[in-house]
Amino acid sequence: MRQQIAAANWKMNLGLDGAKSLLSDILKEDIALAEQQQVIFAVPFPYLMLANEQVQKAGYAIAAQNCSNKKSGAYTGETSVEMLQSIGIRYCIVGHSERREYYHETNQILKEKVDLCLEQGLVPIFCCGEALEIREKGTENDFVRGQLEESLFHLTAEQLKKIVIAYEPIWAIGTGKTATAEQAQQMHAFIRSVLAGKWGQNVADDITILYGGSVKASNAQELFSSPDVDGGLVGGASLNAPEFIAIIKALKK
Ligand code: 13P
Repeated sequence: MRQQIAAANWKMNLGLDGAKSLLSDILKEDIALAEQQQVIFAVPFPYLMLANEQVQKAGYAIAAQNCSNKKSGAYTGETSVEMLQSIGIRYCIVGHSERREYYHETNQILKEKVDLCLEQGLVPIFCCGEALEIREKGTENDFVRGQLEESLFHLTAEQLKKIVIAYEPIWAIGTGKTATAEQAQQMHAFIRSVLAGKWGQNVADDITILYGGSVKASNAQELFSSPDVDGGLVGGASLNAPEFIAIIKALKK
């Protein structure tokens, strides 16, 4: 079975004390992960090293929430993939809709970030997903296909296999309005068919596709039980230990 992942995206939340206590509350819980399951915490930059040390004992991983599209140099305020690699970070979220919307990250910029992550051996968690107007027009498939084409279609099959995709419909992020299990499954199956069209079914079948957008303890099991939904990228509910623990436990066995 392909990898099943529960990924927490803390976004720009929590001070150091809150971050430490949230992590330790989750790490206290004895969760027996199956071989194909993984738990990832995308924590704010200042906590990356500390969090990485803390979670390693449990076999979990840490992700950065973003990285620069430049390799190194005079880019004040940016964090390079090389820096992340040098402190032992294994994953990086690339192209979250909040980065696309508020920081004007284009598919071209995200393509550069994906390439840098792969060069340095980090797994990009590549986010895609449509806004409400696009869904209302019924053009969400074309829109998501465009995001995949423009940022990922230059990759070889070997490179693609090192990527995780997260489908996050913008209308479901932080709104409490989750996509239904059918809506998530339909889009995930569509994304997999786009990957299959380009790289072949075997490659597409290996790619983990996460759902993000108001995932909670109460809906995780239903969402994750769909055949093409391989776990979740979780915002708000990942800031609450019992909620996130329940979400981890809802991953496919
Ligand atoms: P919420 O779970 O708060 O809707 O956020 C989803 C998200 O953006 C995860 O990256």
